[in-house]
Amino acid sequence: MRVDIVSIFPEYFAPLDLSLIGKARANGTLRLAVHDLRTWTHDVHRTVDDTPYGGGPGMVMRPEPWGEALDALAPAAPTPGGTTPEGAIPDGAIPDGGSASPRLLVPTPAGRRFTQAMAHELAAESHLLFACGRYEGIDQRVLDHAATRMRVTEVSLGDYVLFGGEVAVLVILEAVTRLLPGVLGNAGSLDEESHAHGLLEAPMYTKPATWRGHDVPEVLRSGDHGRIARWRRDEALLRTAVRRPDMLAALPPESLDKRDRAALDRGGFQPPTGHVAK
Ligand code: ADE
Repeated sequence: MRVDIVSIFPEYFAPLDLSLIGKARANGTLRLAVHDLRTWTHDVHRTVDDTPYGGGPGMVMRPEPWGEALDALAPAAPTPGGTTPEGAIPDGAIPDGGSASPRLLVPTPAGRRFTQAMAHELAAESHLLFACGRYEGIDQRVLDHAATRMRVTEVSLGDYVLFGGEVAVLVILEAVTRLLPGVLGNAGSLDEESHAHGLLEAPMYTKPATWRGHDVPEVLRSGDHGRIARWRRDEALLRTAVRRPDMLAALPPESLDKRDRAALDRGGFQPPTGHVAK
């Protein structure tokens, strides 16, 4: 997967050299380049912002540097007449070799909520382009214009406001990269983790069996794989019911069998209503 990030703070992305993302970069699974938006300014102060039309506090990111950045990183496909794409690919960019336009992602608290389902959706893309806004955001025309030549998604991490999109990009990239084939040592863990099937994961334990007076649940030491699987499923259901009733309510009723419903019932929870699977 190719990833380009445009920001006025390229230094924010130093952690992308570490751990499994760093490894994915080193082995070519992730071809990532970070670009300084000010590369595409032309005044002596390298200005990227200005006051908002209509008044109000704060500053808005000007469209011109963003327009040039997107032209350079997502060149318009050559027309049948042979027009050359606008802009030049700057140092640090990775020529794609293909003509497919990237998916443009713009982190903003006004965006679509980022979820594990969206992480899967993004992991299937071949080229992601992140535009990190700061201040009061990016002039809307940048996104409107980009949408005429590529898919644009405004994405929010949650219902709170960050200084800018940089931290959101780190979060999104971490969630997406670990889904790329070959990045996780044990891909099986993807199937069991929280959010994989609309449930939170059951609690996990390791040695020693007793620690500061707290025992590991007996069932996990029993070696009985059937009982262990049932216990984990029950714990996942109850945890989800307690912590995330919204997730429990969103489960397709047919995804819960009789034993699932009995576990919820014992815990005093109402399973989602509908057809009961055998
Ligand atoms: N930029 C500022 N706040 C944000 C949020 N909650 N999610 C994504 N990007 C942001």
